[in-house]
Amino acid sequence: MTQTVYLNGKFLPIEQAFVPVLDRGFIFGDGVYEVIPVYSRHPFRLSAHLQRLQHSLDNIRLNNPHADEEWTDLIRELIARDENEDQQVYLHITRGVAKRDHPFPVGATPTVFMMSNPLITPATALVEQGVAAISAVDNRWGGCDIKAISLLPNVLLRQLAVDAGVNETVLFRDGILTEGTASNIFAVEQGVILAPPKDHHMLPGITYDLLLEFAVTHGFPVQIGKFDEARIRQADELWLSSSTREVLAITSLDGQPIGNGQPGPLFRTMYALYQDYKHKVMRNG
Ligand code: PDD
Repeated sequence: MTQTVYLNGKFLPIEQAFVPVLDRGFIFGDGVYEVIPVYSRHPFRLSAHLQRLQHSLDNIRLNNPHADEEWTDLIRELIARDENEDQQVYLHITRGVAKRDHPFPVGATPTVFMMSNPLITPATALVEQGVAAISAVDNRWGGCDIKAISLLPNVLLRQLAVDAGVNETVLFRDGILTEGTASNIFAVEQGVILAPPKDHHMLPGITYDLLLEFAVTHGFPVQIGKFDEARIRQADELWLSSSTREVLAITSLDGQPIGNGQPGPLFRTMYALYQDYKHKVMRNG
C-alpha cells in the first residue's frame, strides 16, 4: 500500500508529493514541525501538540494556516488513511516559496506537509538493559523551545552518538544539563527526580510533562532546576523521554556507568506507569 501524505490541501501518494526548490524550508530551514504519537488511531494529547505548534509559529512570526479544529480534522483523516493502528504523525509548516532572500517574503503562502509513519516503540532489550549515551557541549541556538525544522546542530550531535555506537547524546550548555538531541533528560538523585526547566534551552516535551504528572500523582519528589555535569554523572539514574522512544534508562554516559549500570527502580516504576497509562488512557483517546 502506498503511503498517503498531505500537502497544501491535498491527500496524495507520497511519490506525487513535491515541493518547489525555492521553498524556504529547503533553502533556509525556515519552518517548524510537530511529531504526534497515535495509539489505536487516537492522537495523544493533540491539543498540547497544537499548542506547542502555535508557540513555535508565534516565535518564528508565521501565521497558523489552520485553526485547531481544521488541524484536528486533517490529522484524523491522515490517520484514517493509514493502515497502522499505532502511528507517528509528522506535521511540517514552512514560510512558503519565494525568491531567495533572507527577510520574510511578502505574500508567500505557507507550505503545509503531513505524513504518518508506524510508531515503533523501543525493543524490550533496550527497556530492560538501558541504553548508552555520550555527552557533548550543547552548541545550539537560544531558541531550543521552538520545534524548528532547522535541525542541523541536532543532526550533527546525534551523529556523534551513532559514531560512538550509542543511543543518544546528552547535552550540557555551559556545564548545565539541557536535553538530548531528540529527547528530554531526567536524572534521579536519592529518590528525587531532577528535571531541567522548560526554558529556551530545551524543547518542552509532551512526554516530559506526562512523566512529571506521574511523579506528582504518585508522590515522587521532583526538583526542577539547573543541574551541573558532575551532579548528573553521579546521579543514581538517568532517563531519556520522547514521543517515539517513550522513556528509556541511560545506564552509561561516556563509557562510565550511571548508578550501578542497570535501569534503576524509579525508571522501572515510570516505565510501568507509562505502559499502564498507554493501555488505559492513550488507546482510548
Ligand atoms: N523529538 N527534545 C528534542 C530536541 C526533541 O526533538 C524531542 C522530540 C523531545 C521530546 O519531545 P516530545 O516528548 O514532545 O516528543 C525533546 C521528536 C520525537 C522528533 O524530532 O522526532
